[in-house]
Amino acid sequence: MPLLDILIYPDQKLKKKSKSVDKIDNSLLLLLDDMAETMYDAPGVGLAAPQVGENIRVLTVDITPQDSEEKNLIELINPEIIDSDGSQLGEEGCLSVPGFVANVNRKLNVKVQALNRDGEEITVEASDLLSRVLQHEIDHLDGILFFERLGRLKRELLVKKIKKAFI
Ligand code: CO
Repeated sequence: MPLLDILIYPDQKLKKKSKSVDKIDNSLLLLLDDMAETMYDAPGVGLAAPQVGENIRVLTVDITPQDSEEKNLIELINPEIIDSDGSQLGEEGCLSVPGFVANVNRKLNVKVQALNRDGEEITVEASDLLSRVLQHEIDHLDGILFFERLGRLKRELLVKKIKKAFI
């Protein structure tokens, strides 16, 4: 299976709001397979379809440590946060903004509803890191990058540095 190219900021596809998936067909399943492989290869803990140039609401996540034998791949189609509470501050980076991290405020707990690859409705309840990664990846589907979640001063400072690096 081929590895996909990960788009790097400021690619305009990263800024677009992605469309819902209305049919789970073979090409979507292949995309999910390729996204998982690309995510593990990067390596990263999450990847959203717009990061590989597909503006559709699909993401893959696995927060299992890289050196672990087991895998806990989560594949979500049309994910939606239906409940959340609490807050957490923690370091975040992004495969599309390589070399930059920032402390981002996120919900501590989220409940996410989505379809799995079989088209079944599933609910994922997550906290801590998994919750953070899900929020980060779902943001990608709305064209939002992690540094846009920072307060104004921190955001402006980081954006200046990022633009210097990539534009
Ligand atoms: Co990202």
